[in-house]
Amino acid sequence: LLKKLEHVGIAVADLDEAVKMYRTALEMEPDEIVDVPERGMRIAFFTLGGVQLELLGSTREDSNIANFLEKRGPGLHHLAFAVADVAAALRRLKEKGVRLVDDQPKRGGRGNRIAFLHPQAMGGVLVELCEELGE
Ligand code: CO
Repeated sequence: LLKKLEHVGIAVADLDEAVKMYRTALEMEPDEIVDVPERGMRIAFFTLGGVQLELLGSTREDSNIANFLEKRGPGLHHLAFAVADVAAALRRLKEKGVRLVDDQPKRGGRGNRIAFLHPQAMGGVLVELCEELGE
């Protein structure tokens, strides 16, 4: 079902502060920082060993990230695994009775198809399935 760990999403209270911390402490430079106004988010993308790291900041009080920060504080937000076909993976998971957040694929921040499984089905971790870009 899963091809590889594609990215790790981390919710941060202050994106600029978080990028500064990754830069000074871990000597990592973001590939890009992207505004996603329709989701009230700003995302800093890093790449390390073929895996992406996404620092997720909120730009709106009612964004998903703002809700997450209020409930759980900053920290691990989700793990994203690459699959060949998100729709097919969702059908298989549904057959197994796995609780889903999205029962249809939706568009991710980079235009690829994604879907989330429910954290209660995955030991408290929000899991995203995504199709790799350019495949
Ligand atoms: Co993601």
